[in-house]
Amino acid sequence: MGHQGHAAHHAKVKVDHHAKLAEAMKQRLKVEELEENIDELEDVVEDVFPILMFTVIISTLILIVFLIRMYIKYSVNNPSKNKIDGKTVLITGGTSGLGKATALELAKRNARVLITGREKVIVEAVARNIRKKTGNQHVNALHLDLGNLRNIREFAEDFNRNEKSLHVLINNAAYMGPKSATDDGLERAFAVNYLGHFYLTHLLTEKMKKNAPSRIINVVSDAYVKGNLDFDDLALNKGYDVFGAYARSKYAQMIFNLECHRRLFAHCVWSFAVHPGACNTELLRNYPGLMGNVLRVFSRVMFKPPEDGCQTIVYCAVADKLRDASGKIFANCKVIKTNDRVKDRNVGIQLWSTSAQLCGFECDVPCEDEEVAVNKTEEATTEDKKEQ
Ligand SMILES: NC(=O)c1ccc[n+]([C@@H]2O[C@H](COP(=O)([O-])OP(=O)(O)OC[C@H]3O[C@@H](n4cnc5c(N)ncnc54)[C@H](OP(=O)(O)O)[C@@H]3O)[C@@H](O)[C@H]2O)c1
Repeated sequence: MGHQGHAAHHAKVKVDHHAKLAEAMKQRLKVEELEENIDELEDVVEDVFPILMFTVIISTLILIVFLIRMYIKYSVNNPSKNKIDGKTVLITGGTSGLGKATALELAKRNARVLITGREKVIVEAVARNIRKKTGNQHVNALHLDLGNLRNIREFAEDFNRNEKSLHVLINNAAYMGPKSATDDGLERAFAVNYLGHFYLTHLLTEKMKKNAPSRIINVVSDAYVKGNLDFDDLALNKGYDVFGAYARSKYAQMIFNLECHRRLFAHCVWSFAVHPGACNTELLRNYPGLMGNVLRVFSRVMFKPPEDGCQTIVYCAVADKLRDASGKIFANCKVIKTNDRVKDRNVGIQLWSTSAQLCGFECDVPCEDEEVAVNKTEEATTEDKKEQ
C-alpha cells in the first residue's frame, strides 16, 4: 500500500470512529432521555400512590361496612305475621330505641299498647305519634320511673285498678352509664334494668295470671355472660365499670327470667328473654369519655336500626306455639343456648328473696317445685290451646 493508500485508510478509520462516536452519543442521549422519563414517572407514582392507596382502603372499608350492615339488617326475619287484636301489651321504656319501635310494630298488629316513660310530655308525644302513624287509637302513655320503688308500687296500683287486662309485659327499659344511685340508694343499672322490673312484674303477676295464657318478655343482652353477681356487694363498692354494671344487671335479668318460668309456667304465664342484637339506639347516650364517643359513632354506622332489632321482641309477643320455649332466650326469632351459670337454682332463689327484701315485701310467690309445676302444666294445656 502506497502513501496515498495509507492516507485513505486512515481517513476511513477516522470517519468510522466519528460515526461510532456519534452513534454512541445518540444512544447516550436516548438513555438519558429514558432515565429522565423514568424519574418523571417515579415522581408521578410517588404523588399518586398515597391517593390511590387511600382510595383503595376507603373503598374496602365502605364495602365491609356495607356488607356487615346488610348482614345485620337482614339477619332478623320475623316469621310470624300474627295480629293480636284486643290483647293488652305494656312496654317499659317506650320513649326511644327498641321500646318505641316495638310499640309501633305492635300497634300495627292491632294490640292495645301501653308505653311508659319518665317524662310525661315525651311519652305522650310518642304515643300520639304512633296513633297517628298506625291509625290504632288504643296506644296510651303512662308515667313510670323504674329507679323509684315507690313510683313502681303506685304505678302498679293504678294499673291494677284501671286496666282490665294485661296479656304481654315487656320489661325493656334500661340504663347504661357512670356509677350513680337511684332515689332508693341502689346502684342504677341493677335497680332500673333488673330490680324495677322484678318489682313491677311481681305487682302485675295476679293480673297476668287472670289473663293467661300471658307472656313476660325480658329484654336482655348477650352481655349477660360477662356479668357477675356478688350478693355482698350489690352497690358495686369494690369497683365499678360501665359495661360490668350493665352486664351484671342483664345477668340478673336472665336468672329472673328463668325463675319466672319456674314459678309462673304452671299458671300459663310464659317467660321469654330476648337478646335484640347490637342496635342503633340511645342506650350509649350516658357512656362516658372518649370510649363513649367512639362507641356512639360506631353504633350509628354499624348497628342495625331499632325497627329490625325489635323483631325478636315482637315475635315473642305474637308468635304461636311458644309455650315450650318458656324460660329460654331468643335471638333473631330463634331460641339460643342459655349459659349454664344462669341455671343454678340456688342462685335463682337467693336472687328472688334478696330482691323481695330490697323491694320490701315477703317472698310470697311460692318457689314451686318443678315437678309440681310440670304436672300443673298438663292441666293448663287446655287453656294454652285457646291461643294456638
Ligand atoms: N341497643 C342495643 O344495642 C342493645 C343490645 C342488647 C340489648 N339491648 C336492650 O334493649 C333494651 C332497650 O334499650 P335501647 O337500646 O332501646 O335503649 P334506649 O334507646 O336508651 O331506651 C331505653 C329506654 O329506657 C328508658 N329508661 C331509662 N331509664 C329509665 C328509668 N329509670 N325508668 C324508666 N325508664 C327508663 C328510657 O326512657 P326515658 O329516658 O325517656 O325515661 C328509654 O325509653 C334494654 O333493655 C337494653 O339493655 C339493647
